[in-house]
Amino acid sequence: MEFDTVVRNGIIANASECILGQDIGIKDGLIACIGIGLPVSASTSVIDAQGGYITPGGVDSHVHLEQWNTPTGDTWETGTRSAVCGGTTTVLCFASQNQTDQSVLPVVEDYLGLAKGRSACDYGIHLILTNPTKEVVEKELPLLVRYSGITSVKLYMTYHPMKLGDREILDIMVATRRLGITTMVHAENHDMIELIIETLEQRGQVEPYYQAVSRPKIAEAEATYRAISLSELMDTPILLVHVSSELAAKHIRDAQTRMLPIYGETCPQYLYLLSDRLRGENFEGAKCVCSPPLRERPEDTDAMWTSIANGTFTTFSSDHAATKFYAEGGKRLGLINGRPVFAKIPNGLPGLETRLPLLFKGVEEGRITIQDFVRVASSNPAKLYGVTRKGAVLPGYDADLCIWYPTGKLEPFVLKNSMLHHDIDYTPFEDMTFTNWPRYTLLRGKMGWNRDDGGFIGKFGGGNYIKRTVSALAGPRNVFVNEWRPPI
Ligand code: URP
Ligand code: ZN
Ligand code: ZN
Ligand code: ZN
Repeated sequence: MEFDTVVRNGIIANASECILGQDIGIKDGLIACIGIGLPVSASTSVIDAQGGYITPGGVDSHVHLEQWNTPTGDTWETGTRSAVCGGTTTVLCFASQNQTDQSVLPVVEDYLGLAKGRSACDYGIHLILTNPTKEVVEKELPLLVRYSGITSVKLYMTYHPMKLGDREILDIMVATRRLGITTMVHAENHDMIELIIETLEQRGQVEPYYQAVSRPKIAEAEATYRAISLSELMDTPILLVHVSSELAAKHIRDAQTRMLPIYGETCPQYLYLLSDRLRGENFEGAKCVCSPPLRERPEDTDAMWTSIANGTFTTFSSDHAATKFYAEGGKRLGLINGRPVFAKIPNGLPGLETRLPLLFKGVEEGRITIQDFVRVASSNPAKLYGVTRKGAVLPGYDADLCIWYPTGKLEPFVLKNSMLHHDIDYTPFEDMTFTNWPRYTLLRGKMGWNRDDGGFIGKFGGGNYIKRTVSALAGPRNVFVNEWRPPI
């Protein structure tokens, strides 16, 4: 066979094994074969990995781009450009129902229309449900699964315009169980948080730091355990998104030990940043406001690493939900008449481009293995969300590759926001030292990022929409709490 591209001299890293001494032959955007000494013709491009790791392109399964009800300073172009420059080749973003929407079909159509022809990487869509009417849940969801390839929903237990009650969550679970799709849950106790915010405001405790005080770990742990209980009653798989603290992770771990179909996700900020980052002069703390918030103790960041290493976390996502520190006209959101009001600071951090390099640091520092890295950053998100042909470097899979520098090849460098490709005026990881970074990113065989020569060379509109299948990982177990059975 004549290959379009052959990648040589790399260590191919999959979630199970590493393959040494073999070439990757790429044809028509797919990995055609992996073998020793693959032939090249005059028209074959050859990429020499020089002994660096070759991991599957990243699958970032939690990204907010141009979503009407979440801060998104980035556009589809700038967000996905930064994804590719950070080794990610697939993003799963959110289309969100408005609470007044009686139908979600136009919501999805609008969002797909917005993304069309603009993404630099492949993309899929999750649906946020905020008004789960019978019509939406019983009639429209099955249509979206079948015809649009939207096979996951996100539910919020907090945030006023999006919050659902337990009964609404249970009703949705009947449908997601029936359809075999993944239910993502943002778990924080709304009433606890609302009460604390009100009293902090009355006491004038409104600086960014109090955002962390307003969302204590117990609010996350309680809601996590409650979501697990709802899931157990309904025998419906759920994924707890953006887990930030040890106790919430422990609830997930305990549920998994009981063989419940409970999955967890964490994000880079919960591996590296502590709540002291919310302090700081000149409103700097606003740069690190996200929900759940950064935690106080290194025990929590350590627990997040451990929970990746021991398999508690299924996926590792950016939760990229970025707002500029200086908005249009130099305005700073959350400063009201020059005074900070933490509750008005848009929640969420930029992180699409730094996600993989930050996780790779954990491999270099011996916190996790390269297999753990691939499992949570690519393979599991692909399996959990029904993204076929991605998340592994194997014949028949899309030739989505992230090629790293060989160990010791890259001079250690200090990260500056100016090196990144998003359209956000800061990174929470400014001044952190890196000893590796994605060197080349290939999307379906085409080079989109060449750090040594050309930088971003991908194409806006070069990304395809992915119609997803039902989850290959999560399914009901047909084990029930008593003789009662959820409706089928
Ligand atoms: O602070 C965050 N995580 N904002 C983004 C929206 C969400 O809840 O994921
Ligand atoms: Zn309320
Ligand atoms: Zn969330
Ligand atoms: Zn999010």
